Amino acid sequence: MPGFEVIGKEEQSEVNSVFASGGILFRHGFDQLRNGCYKVKDFERNFAEIMGAPYALAVSSGTAALRVALAALELKAGDEVITQSFTFVATVEAIIESKAVPVCAEIDETLNMDPNDLIKRITPKTKAVIAVHMLGTPSRLVEIKKICDERGLALIEDTAWGCGGSLANTKLGTWGRMGTFSFDFAKTITTGEGGMILFKNEEDFKKAAAWHDHGHENNPKLPRWEDSRSSSGFNFRMSELQAAVGLAQLKKLQTVVDAQRKNKDLIWKLISEVKGIEARRAPTNAYETSDALVFFVPSNEIAKGCRKALVEAGLATKILPEAVTWHFAGTWVHMPELVAAHGGDLKSAFPKSQELLSRAVSLPIRVNMAENEPLKILEALRKVEGLR
Ligand SMILES: Cc1ncc(COP(=O)(O)O)c(C=O)c1O
Repeated sequence: MPGFEVIGKEEQSEVNSVFASGGILFRHGFDQLRNGCYKVKDFERNFAEIMGAPYALAVSSGTAALRVALAALELKAGDEVITQSFTFVATVEAIIESKAVPVCAEIDETLNMDPNDLIKRITPKTKAVIAVHMLGTPSRLVEIKKICDERGLALIEDTAWGCGGSLANTKLGTWGRMGTFSFDFAKTITTGEGGMILFKNEEDFKKAAAWHDHGHENNPKLPRWEDSRSSSGFNFRMSELQAAVGLAQLKKLQTVVDAQRKNKDLIWKLISEVKGIEARRAPTNAYETSDALVFFVPSNEIAKGCRKALVEAGLATKILPEAVTWHFAGTWVHMPELVAAHGGDLKSAFPKSQELLSRAVSLPIRVNMAENEPLKILEALRKVEGLR
């Protein structure tokens, strides 16, 4: 946590340059009025280059990125898409919006998708898998990609939390057929609201680009009002102002990740000594964005005790344990499609995930962390009944 802490004159200057160039806020057209200023296109090109992906498409949010990526797969009603039980509601919402059936797999001690449970949930109707890098820790992509490749399933990475992370020196978001990103205000880099999709294939990119723009194929030989189209779509376009902020933030991505990794290590060095605290696992060769420091304690009561002690000390937790109902599929009884896909009983559909999440605590990591913060966290945790 995150890019918003480093917003400054660079973002202001990028935004000013949009107005200095003619004030065109729309990504397409107005070529005579914009004096060569194309922020969304520049943001896409720079993002693709930094991530090592052939194609990138900027969109209006991370949720839109998921929805548009699924549109490129041209799913039919009844097709199944598997994601994981610990994610934000947006991942499942995007599957439902695509008219596909949402299925969730259990997580393991990495708090990401358990590949062994994924295999059990695959049916002849499964078309795609969305692996999520929750809170900045890479999911077990080596195993998950192998499972998808062997069965001809499309792998999408929900990289909302993984921007700037990698696994085995390959950037998160580039392992799968597509990788989606969020630039909302809580993410590693932010454009206020915004998102990006990375693609391996030109065909997926073209379908997604048209679909996020009402089907416009942006034929360079035709004016926009006469543009060709092969399907309907929607409007999930990013604006020039969001992209201007994104261009400045992207230059700060590595600095943000470096600071988060350093600060997380400083906190962990102190608190790992506390009896009863156990680290969240990460796959081998994981390079985490360190958006959060997540650990397990012996019980839910102790997890709640950690939050209470931290809040009393003027500190905080992030998502776990306080916001679990927005991030655990076992509680989403308001989504009838998900309930039906899990036999009508969501509450007992993910016993392992429930057990792990009930005793997980997540600390926010700040870029501009106060020097005494690790010690304050340690002192707060030492006060928790059940930990010492
Ligand atoms: C895992 C995950 N996917 C998708 C999203 C949606 O991103 P946005 O808020 O940009 O729509 C989020 C947002 O927090 C998220 O945590």
